[in-house]
Amino acid sequence: MKIACFAGDGIGPEIMAEARRVLAALDLPGLVVFEGDVGGAAYRRHGHPLPEETLDMARAADGVLFGAVGDPACDALERHLRPEQAILGLRSALGLFANLRPATMFAGLESMSALRPEIAAEIDLLIVRELNGDVYFGEKAMRTLDDGRRQGFDFMSYAEDEVRRIAHVAFRAARGRNGRLCSVDKANVLETSQLWRDVVIETHAEYPDVELSHMYVDNAAMQLVKNPGQFDVVVTGNLFGDILSDQASMCVGSIGLLASAALGERQTQFGTFGLYEPIHGSAPDIAGQGEANPMAMILSLAMLLRHSLGREEDAARVERAVSQALADGVRGGDLGGTAGTREIGDAVLARL
Ligand code: NAI
Ligand code: MG
Repeated sequence: MKIACFAGDGIGPEIMAEARRVLAALDLPGLVVFEGDVGGAAYRRHGHPLPEETLDMARAADGVLFGAVGDPACDALERHLRPEQAILGLRSALGLFANLRPATMFAGLESMSALRPEIAAEIDLLIVRELNGDVYFGEKAMRTLDDGRRQGFDFMSYAEDEVRRIAHVAFRAARGRNGRLCSVDKANVLETSQLWRDVVIETHAEYPDVELSHMYVDNAAMQLVKNPGQFDVVVTGNLFGDILSDQASMCVGSIGLLASAALGERQTQFGTFGLYEPIHGSAPDIAGQGEANPMAMILSLAMLLRHSLGREEDAARVERAVSQALADGVRGGDLGGTAGTREIGDAVLARL
C-alpha cells in the first residue's frame, strides 16, 4: 500500500501532520508513505507548483492525500506558476473525473447549520459531481452583434461514455451506503440532461439492488434545504454539482469539517485510485499558529482508506473517532471553540 502525501501551503503542513499521526496509529500492514512538494512550497524549491517528480510520486501511489495550496506571496506570479495550478494539474494529469463530497451532520453541531436544527440533524448525503465535462470545458465565444450589443456563448456537452463512467461511480457509492441514488438533471429543458438521464437509466440495469430516482435541479436545490434527509447519494453534472455541493456544505456548517475525494478510472490492487483533500483552502490568515481544525484533513484520510485502500473498517473507525470528539465538545476556532490543531489531533487519537 502506497500513499503520497502532499501537504502544500499555509495550514496544509499543520493539518497533514495530524492526519499522518492518525494514519500511523492505524498501523497498516506494508504501508509506504511518500512526501512530495506542491503549491507555493514547490515553486520556491523547484520553480514549479507541480514538479514532475511530485506527479510521478502520485502516479506510483494507490492514493494521494492533499493538504491545501495557495500562498499570498505568490499572487504576482503568472497564472501557470500559481500554487493553485498544482491541484488543477493533478486532477487533469491523473484523469480524476469524479468528485465525491459527503455532507453529514455531526451530533451536537446542528446549531452551526444554515438550516433549522431539526432539519439539519437529518443530513447524511454524498454528492457525486462529474468534474471533467459539461459547460466548463465546451467551446466558448464572445461576439458583438450588429447593433453593438455583446453576446456570450458557452457550449454545454456530455458524451455517453462521460456520463456512464460517473454513473458507475455513483451506483457503486450508493451500494456502499444506503442503496439509494438520486440523479439530478434538467431533462425537461436540456439535451445534455436527456442523454444524462437515458445513460443513468441504462447503467441502472447493472445495479438492480440500488433504488434510482430522478429530480430536476431546481427542485433538488429546494429539497436540499427543505428535506435533506431524503437524500443518500446524489449524482449530477459539473455545473449543477458545483452549486449543489457548496449549498450542501453550508447545510452542515463548518468548512473545517468537510472532506472530498476526486476519483479516476484507474483501479489499484485495493480499490480506486484517488486524491483526497479538505474542501477548504490554505487559510493564510491562521497559518503557522496551530489553530487550524485538522478534522476535514483526517476525514479525507478516512475517504482514502475506504476508496483507494479498501479499508472500510479503518475508515469507519477514523470517522467514529472524529464524531465522538465533536460529540464530546471538542471545538476548533471554526466552530467557535478554542481547541488547537494538536489538541484536536490528540482528541481524535484518544478516541480511535
Ligand atoms: P480558505 O478555505 O483557505 O479560508 C476561508 C476561511 O476559513 C478563513 O477565514 C480560514 O481561516 C477559515 N478556515 C479554512 N480552513 C480552516 C480550518 N481547517 N480550520 C479553521 N479555519 C479554517 O479560503 P480562502 O481564504 O478563500 O483561500 C485561501 C487560499 O487557499 C487561496 O490561495 C485559495 O486559492 C486557496 N484554496 C485552495 C484550495 C485547495 O487547495 N484545494 C481550495 C480553496 C482555496
Ligand atoms: Mg464551488
